[in-house]
Amino acid sequence: MSDIDLLAKKLFPNSQDCVRIIQITDTHLFGEPKGKLLGLDTRESLGAVMSRVRQEEIAPDIILVTGDLSQDASPESYEYLLKELQAFNIPSFWIPGNHDDPSIMSPILEGDNVYPQRRVLIGDWQIVLLDSSVRGKVYGHISEPQLEFLKNCLEQTDDKHSLIAMHHQPVKVGSDWLDNLGIRNADELFEAAANHHNHCCFLWGHVHQDFHGEKNGIELISTPSTCVQFKPGSQKFSAGDESPGYRYLTLHKDGTIDSVLHRITDVEFTVDYSIKGY
Ligand SMILES: [Fe+2]
Repeated sequence: MSDIDLLAKKLFPNSQDCVRIIQITDTHLFGEPKGKLLGLDTRESLGAVMSRVRQEEIAPDIILVTGDLSQDASPESYEYLLKELQAFNIPSFWIPGNHDDPSIMSPILEGDNVYPQRRVLIGDWQIVLLDSSVRGKVYGHISEPQLEFLKNCLEQTDDKHSLIAMHHQPVKVGSDWLDNLGIRNADELFEAAANHHNHCCFLWGHVHQDFHGEKNGIELISTPSTCVQFKPGSQKFSAGDESPGYRYLTLHKDGTIDSVLHRITDVEFTVDYSIKGY
């Protein structure tokens, strides 16, 4: 039995009708406990998100954390996130974003319920996690080995649907400044996924806003940040006024995905809109 199958058997021993996923993204945590992004305390807003998940969501199977976990790539920020994730009694999987440093985060974000694995089999689905980050750059790129990895995952698993998670966006979302900062070789990514079996969905963060679409038969979803949002449709950097959020995805046996975006609207957060960069 492969390592992937063994992990699946260990984590998800029972058959299940659907797979329930919490996606949190762009937590932008600081080493400094009161660290703020554009005036917003990112530990506080993540705390509000996590407590909402704890109160309201019924039996999620997995937490996916899709990049920009830290703003300053400090060990303390990753140690803080590790504790937040370990407080849930379900497996968490993560990928880095442009603000992260894999060499710092990798040794920290592992243990108890937190896993560094990049492929997960659960029920009728496989989840593949791709690292789209490029050291020292804000834009994204999927390396050749990862394109091969994706192709192999899709070829080997013709009896499952596929959810492919990454940090950067593989399509334009309608904001000039962000559209220059997506995955530069997105054509190669779509090509690698061209022979997908059954349903296939790309899921990402980075754009700090809600987006749904479809391209080449692949469903496309992005999720707002647990902290500051970016204003949809803006030509230049602009913070949005939407509340912190997370996404709850239900992956069904027939390949359909129910996706619900939750916002923390009952907590006051202060964002400094005068800041023109992040
Ligand atoms: Fe981000």
